Amino acid sequence: MESLHIIGDEHQSIAAIMHAIRYMLKEVGAGKLQADLKLFQAMVHYLDAYAEQRHHPKEDILFDLLAKRTDKAANSLAQLAEQHGAAPQRIAALQQALDAYLADAGKFAQFAQAFDAYAEFYRNHMMLEEDVVLPLARQHLTAADWAAVDAGFREEMQSKSGKDGKHEDFAGLFSRLVDAAPAPIGLGSGPFKG
Ligand SMILES: [Fe+2]
Ligand SMILES: [Fe+2]
Repeated sequence: MESLHIIGDEHQSIAAIMHAIRYMLKEVGAGKLQADLKLFQAMVHYLDAYAEQRHHPKEDILFDLLAKRTDKAANSLAQLAEQHGAAPQRIAALQQALDAYLADAGKFAQFAQAFDAYAEFYRNHMMLEEDVVLPLARQHLTAADWAAVDAGFREEMQSKSGKDGKHEDFAGLFSRLVDAAPAPIGLGSGPFKG
């Protein structure tokens, strides 16, 4: 069940980045913090490339197998599949709001609103996975199923670790984002330099 730990760890990292953006938007909105535009851009990139493009396909390995073992998860799995599939539209809306804000600081409130909608969606998405679907997986997957899912996760992570220079190093990016984010949510070493 190593895969369950990996999903849990990834959810935590994604939640931490969303929390950081939300905190910064609140502080910028209140005039207490100067916006670090490069950091906003890098964090939205992290959400796109990691939270949407790398994270969900791993979950799909587990969800596809769960669908074969029980009907109890059918409604939730259908909902999650639709949500995984709608990632490009979701990110496009967020990116569009960010681009509009980068071009015109007067569009800050719209970006903050688009981000809030995104974060709210993603939080509910993770809750559906953690509270409904993963408990059913624990109940219905066999030891052999878990071995297969774990192997699938391991293979994906090894082949795209970012250590070979062919794939992005998201663990490294995560650390740089947290370093640059203002205290108390980050280490405050910003502005973000890339
Ligand atoms: Fe997901
Ligand atoms: Fe997830």
